[in-house]
Amino acid sequence: MCGIVGYVGHRSAQDVVVEGLRRLEYRGYDSAGVALVAAGPDGAGRVEWRKRAGKLANLEKLIGEEPLPEVTIGIGHTRWATHGAPNDVNAHPHLGNRRRVAVVHNGIIENFDDLRARLEDDDHQLSSETDTEVAAHLLELQVGSGVDLTTAMQRVCQVLEGAFTLVAVDAEDPDRVVAARRNSPLVVGVGEGENFLGSDVAAFIEHTREALELGQDQVVTITRDGVAVTDFHGAPVTPKAYHVDWDLSAAEKDGHDWFMRKEIFEQPHAVADSLLGRRTRTGALQLDEMRLSDQELRDIDKIIIIAAGTSFYAGMVAKYAIEHWTRIPVEVELSSEFRYRDPILDYSTLVVAISQSGETADTLQAIRHARTQRSKVLAICNTNGSTIPRESDAVIYTHAGPEIGVASTKGFVTQLVACYLLALYLAQVKGTRYGDEIADVLHQLEAIPAHIETVLSRAEAVYELARAHVDEPTVLFLGRHAGYPVALEGALKLKELAYIHAEGFAGGELKHGPIALIDTGQPVLCVVPPRGRDQLHGKMLSAIQEVRARGARTICLAEEGDTAVAAIADTLIELPRVPVLLQPLLAVVPLQLFACELATVKGHDVDQPRNLAKSVTVE
Ligand code: G6P
Repeated sequence: MCGIVGYVGHRSAQDVVVEGLRRLEYRGYDSAGVALVAAGPDGAGRVEWRKRAGKLANLEKLIGEEPLPEVTIGIGHTRWATHGAPNDVNAHPHLGNRRRVAVVHNGIIENFDDLRARLEDDDHQLSSETDTEVAAHLLELQVGSGVDLTTAMQRVCQVLEGAFTLVAVDAEDPDRVVAARRNSPLVVGVGEGENFLGSDVAAFIEHTREALELGQDQVVTITRDGVAVTDFHGAPVTPKAYHVDWDLSAAEKDGHDWFMRKEIFEQPHAVADSLLGRRTRTGALQLDEMRLSDQELRDIDKIIIIAAGTSFYAGMVAKYAIEHWTRIPVEVELSSEFRYRDPILDYSTLVVAISQSGETADTLQAIRHARTQRSKVLAICNTNGSTIPRESDAVIYTHAGPEIGVASTKGFVTQLVACYLLALYLAQVKGTRYGDEIADVLHQLEAIPAHIETVLSRAEAVYELARAHVDEPTVLFLGRHAGYPVALEGALKLKELAYIHAEGFAGGELKHGPIALIDTGQPVLCVVPPRGRDQLHGKMLSAIQEVRARGARTICLAEEGDTAVAAIADTLIELPRVPVLLQPLLAVVPLQLFACELATVKGHDVDQPRNLAKSVTVE
């Protein structure tokens, strides 16, 4: 939510900042802006800025019409609006009265009303509706009193409440960019004769893969030759250095029209990578980053999974797997609801937080609440160095590579893999499954990448289906058991990307109300469980018959050779045969392709759907 870039070095700051914003645009695209520090005609520095509502392309057009000076220090911002409408005035950067300090911000300054009133009493003219502008005025007051921008930032942060990453430049100090973070992401990129700031490493990965992790309540100053970090009171801090193992190609589209489509097709790889190195030489399962002892894991008598959006649906699938393999009761809860219901937690509860970005504020706050109640928290996360794994007791990293498309795809399947691994690991430690049973499931998981390839090789048929549904006002999804969260995820994808009303239901629940929605021609996508000893398959068939009898057009996802489904489906999408618990890894893929293609045909921006942001860092 909001992308931030800062640069000081020897290259064109405008190029570095705009390119960084392009890579961060998935975080928000309500407006974009840059500010650079240039030498004025009389030798005194001045801040030059351009900002424009809408996507980055609008800002680039403006810069084309009103060029910026060629300088080597600057900051930039791409916005997901919280306070104030997404217009030119509210776009960042914001400046103080004297136009000396420019600042960009991600987060929410909760006491901005108070601060604004005080500033206005002192004749400050604030022109936007944002909470950010107060920070620009406060910083300018401080540098005006004679302190440098670093000290100014430390002092200002002490009076701000809420969540913020702030990045600022001072016209009279053309050698430094200063930033601060509290409850909002910021990383430092370390180069030679140049340094970078970014909301995440994508902002500077083209230039350096050496990064520094910043902690809570820290101020960082970058110059051409150095990086200095302090706390809000000026005490020096040594940041943790890390090497980023993503390369630039991971952040490019590779010939696909959308990042999302590329990421759907990367899923076989992403799953394989997320399974790599998980077995010891004796065949037992190992999770390097687990950090919880076997005894701690054996003491767990309840698991609560917390997550948002697509990650929540991964958590719903995980419940089926964990309970089945370990017999530990599992609750799954939206992280935004969790702490407000006063959940029952103690040291024997394991809280599993699932987050692709590792920055979702709702999930982060839920983690903090759980830890105050003495529960252990395990994060399942795709982003190294992000806040959620840092604040958790243990972590299982997914290895999906950077996910740029706002709607999560490879993030979801790799989260499922991590959840299965966790379930199997707990089963191994608690002895609820024999070693050969665990090895058997691992074996089946290792076959999944090839199965996803098979599903992807049939993409054209799904695209045709999508093109036939462009004018549909409503699409319904049905599933049972582990297929139920898949139905919910399929519906979410369609809402997010195609802006079509879509809902997912549990097959058995249909008759308790939703069936009233069925009318002649209503498309219903049905995720059919594989045939097995349980009665799931037969029950799902009954649900399909029920909607057919009322005129629905059924599009069924079923395993190959399922003649019973073939006989009643209007359209059949075949999936390779896998056990019911693993089927979500395959069944979700056609639903992703369906939504992606439908949105493309409708002319929507698939990578940046309206009103959404990839990383939601406000509650
Ligand atoms: C946002 C994104 C969703 C994502 C959700 C959770 O709403 O638009 O695609 O599923 O956040 O994100 P996380 O990074 O915590 O998995």
